[in-house]
Amino acid sequence: MMRLDIQVQPIRPNMTAPPVSEVIIIEEIQVDDENDEKGVIALVCINRPNKLNALNSDIVSGLKAMCSWAESQNEIRLVIIKGAEPLLPEEGKRAKPNAFVAGADISEFTGKKSDDIRQSFKDNAWEAIWNLSKPTIAMIDGFTLGGGLEVACSCDIRMASSRSKFGTPEISLGLIPGGGGTQRLSHLIGYGKALELVLSGEMLSANEALKVGLVNHVYEPEELLEATLKLARGIASKSPHTLKIGKKVVRASLELPISEGVALEAEEFAQLFDTEDKEIGVEAFLNRTNPNWKGK
Ligand code: COA
Repeated sequence: MMRLDIQVQPIRPNMTAPPVSEVIIIEEIQVDDENDEKGVIALVCINRPNKLNALNSDIVSGLKAMCSWAESQNEIRLVIIKGAEPLLPEEGKRAKPNAFVAGADISEFTGKKSDDIRQSFKDNAWEAIWNLSKPTIAMIDGFTLGGGLEVACSCDIRMASSRSKFGTPEISLGLIPGGGGTQRLSHLIGYGKALELVLSGEMLSANEALKVGLVNHVYEPEELLEATLKLARGIASKSPHTLKIGKKVVRASLELPISEGVALEAEEFAQLFDTEDKEIGVEAFLNRTNPNWKGK
């Protein structure tokens, strides 16, 4: 399979520079190659390949900064999060495995007590990703464990390569997931399967993860980027305002009794009839043209 050449666009004049650091690298990809008015996708790379992209405090603060930035930039239509690929091994050493993120950085747990953890987990990166109003996709190629699985679960959609592995191994450290994993996992794969993962620390293969609904799609590694960008571009080409409302209303189903959720949906649906984008979308369909969204 062909590897896709990503067009990395320079930072646009009307965009604030992204909070790029050594451990968080952000590339911009145009939603529509032929029309730079259609906004951009932020491709965010967690870059610590020698430690399987384990989440140390620099990555956690980088992800939080990335989320505030992505939320504030009108041009950003969607965020994809991925882990850096392994580097070439030093001579005589074995190659590191592929990883999305192999968890929180365990070395930062040494000597920590509850007060330290409460402090450092306040306003954490998982909630920052979860609370983004724009669509998010985790592009997963390799180990996705502990806090890494929680990053993936905080995203709206999970696209995985066939060599990926998923699990919550915290139990082997005398811990449980702490970044929303027990809750978001239960919603995604059901109470019974979530408990099995949390209590056993066992890993799921990509196909098992697909079967239980943990990931949306599985591709061969060399097809993953192309498939992810295709889905991302399809989503990002819709009205940014309507996307936000769609995400908000589906998300509400996690917390509201069904009667309240249905009422919320009916109200949001009605309010969309007062937006310019509803007029634009309906007219474009009837005239067989492409909609030029206003985002309101
Ligand atoms: N935190 C800190 N460092 C980590 C890490 C983590 N969560 N996961 C991997 N690393 C580091 C290893 O210490 C190693 O560093 P080194 O080469 O400097 O010694 C490097 O990443 C490569 O990992 P390694 O264990 O040698 O790779 P492997 O192929 O033998 O095993 C895993 C891969 C994923 C099975 C193994 O790394 C692992 O179990 N990681 C921890 C997973 C975990 O418990 N996550 C939940 C944390 S809350």
